[in-house]
Amino acid sequence: MNNLSWIEISKNNLISNLKTIRQITCPEAIISPCIKANAYGHGLVETAKIFISGGADWLSVNSIEEAEKIRQADLGQPILVIGHVAEYELERIFDLDLRLFISSFDYAEKLSKIGQTKNKIANIHLKIDTGMHRHGVLMMEAEELAKKINDLPHIKIEGLATHFANSAEPSNPSYFNEQLEKFTSIVSKIKNITNHDLIIHCDKSASLLVYDNHISNLVRPGISAYGYYPSSEVAEIAKAKGINLKPALAFKTIIGQIKKILANSFVGYGCAYTTSRPSTIATIPVGYYDGYDRKLSNKGYALVSGQRAPILGRVCMNITIIDITDCGQISSGDEVVLIGRQDNEQITVEQLAIWADTINYEIITRLRESLPRYYI
Ligand SMILES: Cc1ncc(COP(=O)(O)O)c(C=O)c1O
Repeated sequence: MNNLSWIEISKNNLISNLKTIRQITCPEAIISPCIKANAYGHGLVETAKIFISGGADWLSVNSIEEAEKIRQADLGQPILVIGHVAEYELERIFDLDLRLFISSFDYAEKLSKIGQTKNKIANIHLKIDTGMHRHGVLMMEAEELAKKINDLPHIKIEGLATHFANSAEPSNPSYFNEQLEKFTSIVSKIKNITNHDLIIHCDKSASLLVYDNHISNLVRPGISAYGYYPSSEVAEIAKAKGINLKPALAFKTIIGQIKKILANSFVGYGCAYTTSRPSTIATIPVGYYDGYDRKLSNKGYALVSGQRAPILGRVCMNITIIDITDCGQISSGDEVVLIGRQDNEQITVEQLAIWADTINYEIITRLRESLPRYYI
């Protein structure tokens, strides 16, 4: 690769994860992988194409902006916008042929009016807040809202959705069960109002991987489609059931400048590291601008020549300094692995998340969008 730093994505692993999700979902369910946040760092449009080739029926995006990029790439799949849509963007729903979550009459009425002028129907999915307390209409207002929207012209309640707050903590399932019960009860009430078949969806990675009976006929898996588990608890349960996801992403760079410094030398900003021995150090052209977390300062490792090379001092904006004293004969330009495998050593996204005191979701979604991505 002719780059300073880059990301490699395994097409086979993305497709394998989607097939795994298909196997644990009821066979007729619509698979609508979440490709928001630049497809969890994997590259929006290319990943969407790979998911479609692996059997994705729909695509779930966060924003109109993301949906527009998918349409510009001429991908014809139904698109569900699951994030906030501003009033001024509502017209784009019709122009780009999108579905969206609706939680208020105000929005529904505005959509209906735009639909009238364009002589088109908007397919909306009523988002019900069963306890996450983020987007969605409150349970006690949901039935009334469904009735009012159902009476509007140029708008069709196509689906009902909710989002679980703690399905990734299955050792404490009571709140999950409470939300599921609430959702099941409101679904049956609203079905009586619309008098047509509805697309029902609540499942994301954690609930799909942990629980076996799903009421959804559409699923919105995110992190699992990329090969990661939503939590270590979920990973344990899923693996015990024989579910093996395959991480699709590797993050690589090259050795920059190499130099030998004496014991008791400071390294980097704030003199935050002091060598305890004569050391061979190297720069790598990656920093927090690239999504390489500053909390990795003096904590994380990179792989050089199949060995773990400790990060010395603070991660800078575009540069990080590593200790290659124990890595053998290294030259400028040699490959360095920040996420992924090199010989017998591996740095997982989860390991980076522990070092950086965050979650795997944040590690992958913050990888700089403009880093070159190679799909192999
Ligand atoms: C509404 C909604 N559905 C589905 C997902 C996918 O979740 P996960 O990546 O845990 O599968 C998300 C992710 O944040 C979401 O916000």
